[in-house]
Amino acid sequence: MIPVILSGGSGTRLWPLSRGQYPKQFLPLVSGKTMIQETLLRLSGVSGLQPPIAVCNEDHRFMMAEQLWEIGSKPAAIILEPVGKNTAPAVAMAALSAASADDVLLILPADHVIADTSTFHRAIAKAEQLAKQDLLVTFGIVASAPETGYGYIKAGAEQVGDGFKVAAFVEKPDAETAQAYLASGDYFWNSGMFAFKAGIFLAELEKFNPQMLKVCREALAAAKTDLDFTRLDKEIFSTCPADSIDYAVMEKTDKAAVIPLDAGWNDVGSWSALWDVTGKDQAGNAIKGDVLTIDTGNSYIHSSNKLVAVIGVRDLVVVETDDAVMVASKDRVQDVKAIVDQLKALK
Ligand code: GDD
Ligand code: MG
Repeated sequence: MIPVILSGGSGTRLWPLSRGQYPKQFLPLVSGKTMIQETLLRLSGVSGLQPPIAVCNEDHRFMMAEQLWEIGSKPAAIILEPVGKNTAPAVAMAALSAASADDVLLILPADHVIADTSTFHRAIAKAEQLAKQDLLVTFGIVASAPETGYGYIKAGAEQVGDGFKVAAFVEKPDAETAQAYLASGDYFWNSGMFAFKAGIFLAELEKFNPQMLKVCREALAAAKTDLDFTRLDKEIFSTCPADSIDYAVMEKTDKAAVIPLDAGWNDVGSWSALWDVTGKDQAGNAIKGDVLTIDTGNSYIHSSNKLVAVIGVRDLVVVETDDAVMVASKDRVQDVKAIVDQLKALK
């Protein structure tokens, strides 16, 4: 099995720590290791793993290479995108780079947290078995809120191996639909991790978006290789249609299966999610860096340089960095994205 690390997101909802030039997956947000490093270290002990393939923006090539090197991971390739085209082309590049069409790829977003590694490993082994039967395997998280930022998976009645055939995959439904799915109790969230044979994924992409696959093949054929880096051809790749694997393939394929996963998965999509997965003091405060508190509770407080003192508040997020300070109510952290949009408009 070949781990494929997808690292193209900019993680704007974790501004001001996560920046375009330094997105969240390259930061040590939850432990002393960065999220990319944790993504690979978490696989330690899984049998039959081949060297990973990383796919990232070319601006991040040195950070990626250095962070892999730091943990002793020797990638088969670091594929560099001159421009982000979302996850379907990124996965296609990894699939086209595999030595054999029968190689099973384990697609991993670079910015997730999974608390229970041994349960995760068992799920990977089950997924690999299904992938070998030519299925596109998803990992289903029991849905616990009407989130609209996730894909929803309805497991069919037909059991395959330790999982189920997928009856329906719906990417990012509207709020009303998400609410109905949650109420029905029939849906999992899509974790964003997948397992499938390289050749099966490419065959499905050929069916649903032949133009994307054609451009990906051409951009890879014209790529330049130096050291571990594979630099996709900019002129060609810029013409690639952009789409996520979820819309481009998973919603359309009839070869999808789901392995349920209950392993403390969290995609750390916001400051409140980060607070959820970080160790807390008795008052429920998650604290990073030089921080003093009095009568403060259930807050996330992060200091990068200065001493940060917080008094008499609850449910706040306070983040101090070199050039920005953010203070937000913990239930308003989704609006951080709006601040980032305002900043972009100013530039
Ligand atoms: N190389 C590369 N290039 N990676 C990318 C690109 C790109 O253009 N765009 C996104 N990625 C990476 C991100 O860094 C992240 O690690 C992963 O691919 C998923 O992309 P997101 O942008 O975070 O996707 P999402 O959160 O909106 O939705 C996906 O994940 C959800 C769970 O967190 C979907 O798979 C949903 O169905 C799923 O529920
Ligand atoms: Mg995400």
